[in-house]
Amino acid sequence: MARCAYDLTKFPLAPCREIPLPPSTCHIPVLLDEVIQWLEPAAGKIIVDGTLGGGGHSAALASRVLPGGKIIGVDLDPEALERAQPAISSLPVTVAVGNYTDIPQILRQLEIDAVDGILLDLGLSSDQLADEERGFSFQSTGPLDLRFDRSSGKPAWQLIERLSERHLADLIYQFGEERLSRRIARKIVAQRRSEPIRTADQLASLVRSCVPRSRGHRIDPATRTFQALRIAVNDELKSLQEALAHLPTCLKPGGHLAIISFHSLEDRLVKHGFRNDDRLEVLTKRPVRATDEETAQNPRASSAKLRIAKRVD
Ligand SMILES: C[S@@+](CC[C@H](N)C(=O)[O-])C[C@H]1O[C@@H](n2cnc3c(N)ncnc32)[C@H](O)[C@@H]1O
Repeated sequence: MARCAYDLTKFPLAPCREIPLPPSTCHIPVLLDEVIQWLEPAAGKIIVDGTLGGGGHSAALASRVLPGGKIIGVDLDPEALERAQPAISSLPVTVAVGNYTDIPQILRQLEIDAVDGILLDLGLSSDQLADEERGFSFQSTGPLDLRFDRSSGKPAWQLIERLSERHLADLIYQFGEERLSRRIARKIVAQRRSEPIRTADQLASLVRSCVPRSRGHRIDPATRTFQALRIAVNDELKSLQEALAHLPTCLKPGGHLAIISFHSLEDRLVKHGFRNDDRLEVLTKRPVRATDEETAQNPRASSAKLRIAKRVD
């Protein structure tokens, strides 16, 4: 596996951990057949995977671009690159730690003018969800961090500690589309006066105590609040908007941009971004969804929506 020099200069590696990482990923790539079908990896092609994660999509794409082609894998989380290594180390994959918004600079550094395809598989991986130290899982008793890149920005527990009640309510409403955001913010502010909220399980039980579980819905009442905080600490919507503005110029004419989103805020941005971009032709009128068979094997796939556009200018 080649490592692009980009990560070493611009993005310091995360501090060493005392608990060793599991040797490989537990993440199952979603919509894998569909991604392959639409990105059409073939000998000699260069494809960027802007969200490498456990390397599942990259490995499948990389094995199809030989001879002569390669995959550039980018992730904000240095631990993802380590975990992906067993899946991609024997394949033509060059990795860089960075934001997918940095893809234009990364390609420039690699002296690549334009690529045949770009994939973004948004959100978090099952590896990050399983990591107690990161706070993505509602049960976790480690710090409520929620950052993909723990070397920059502020962890979510600090937002919860510092934001005013009004600001918290607006954030939970705007990024979580949570109707009961004011009630949740009031409770957070009341509770933090007596006891700091530092862990995911503390926050999840607080939210559950003020949001009734809607009948027939299997999602945890804390889901929308966690989504809102995660979007805020990682500035996720801003990254996606920047990517939509700049990534089409990295594609060769006829090159494909494929984006998998997991909630309506992201999907709306992708849908309108593609539709309003004169450089792109939208190839998927409706988003591609997982089959019942895939969803049965990997419940995470049930909310995945894949949209594809082709560079035409
Ligand atoms: C759903 S996982 C990708 C899984 C991957 N497709 C696979 O097959 O294993 C999303 C990954 O995107 C990364 N990520 C999230 N936002 C990012 C950003 N703005 N730039 C780069 N990576 C990002 C996360 O750290 C996470 O590893």
